[in-house]
Amino acid sequence: MKIHETIAGLRTGLKSAGRVVLVPTMGNLHDGHISLMRQAHEHGDTVLVSIFVNRLQFRPGEDFEKYPRTFDADCERLIAAGVDVLFFPAESEMYPTPQRYFIEPPAELINILEGEFRPGHFRGVATVVQKLFNITQPQVAVFGKKDYQQMLVLSNMARELALPIEIVATDTVRATDGLALSSRNGFLSPTERVEAPRLHRLLKATRYAILAGERDYSRLESQAMVELRAHGWIPDYIAVREKTGLKLPTAHDSGLVILGAALLGSTRLIDNLEV
Ligand code: PAF
Repeated sequence: MKIHETIAGLRTGLKSAGRVVLVPTMGNLHDGHISLMRQAHEHGDTVLVSIFVNRLQFRPGEDFEKYPRTFDADCERLIAAGVDVLFFPAESEMYPTPQRYFIEPPAELINILEGEFRPGHFRGVATVVQKLFNITQPQVAVFGKKDYQQMLVLSNMARELALPIEIVATDTVRATDGLALSSRNGFLSPTERVEAPRLHRLLKATRYAILAGERDYSRLESQAMVELRAHGWIPDYIAVREKTGLKLPTAHDSGLVILGAALLGSTRLIDNLEV
């Protein structure tokens, strides 16, 4: 695996790379990421992974500083997954001067759900991803559906800005007990780790109720939140939404997604399930 730390070096290195598939990450790689990389191989000639912990998408007081930086372990996993190129820029390479130009996704998509609890988050994500696209000029980019709202923000961005990039959205990878794999799972204590799959179980129960004909979505949402609180969680939201724009569902919607975010101890977990 070739590792580039500079934009210039990467651009030279990619000159005869053929169809480039980019998998942007913030590192601390787990099986969920590795599954993205394995799928990336099916979409092009060169799998390019970026590792960059992007300050722009964290608010003061969020976990930017304590976000795990595990470069050596990440490299081992990337090599084992057959990744061809790693882009690993320092902050001074990505943001040599303070970033003043931003991608501003539509308010109705970024001020709800994750965006309501993490103001500015998707602006930071969209800006760094657009910048990574400009730097790496991939033909394909792969994002996990675990961050469902992020995946929508980025695929809408690619479409509305007519970027010549195919966006591939991949399914969430789960532990055997259902917990969605996430870098943040590493912050859970052993007791919290046992409790953590409850979020997924509640999303599944909500989906089951919808498939059985329940249409009172707010009742289902409140029920799930009550259940989480009863087990020591602090839920931010459980929300049933239509799956293409995350609007409140109407009778005519053909596809729904149930999204949830909640604090377990000091770890904030998110998950979602398509119906
Ligand atoms: O999902 C992530 O890890 C990040 O939000 C991303 C897409 C790499 C942008 O920093």
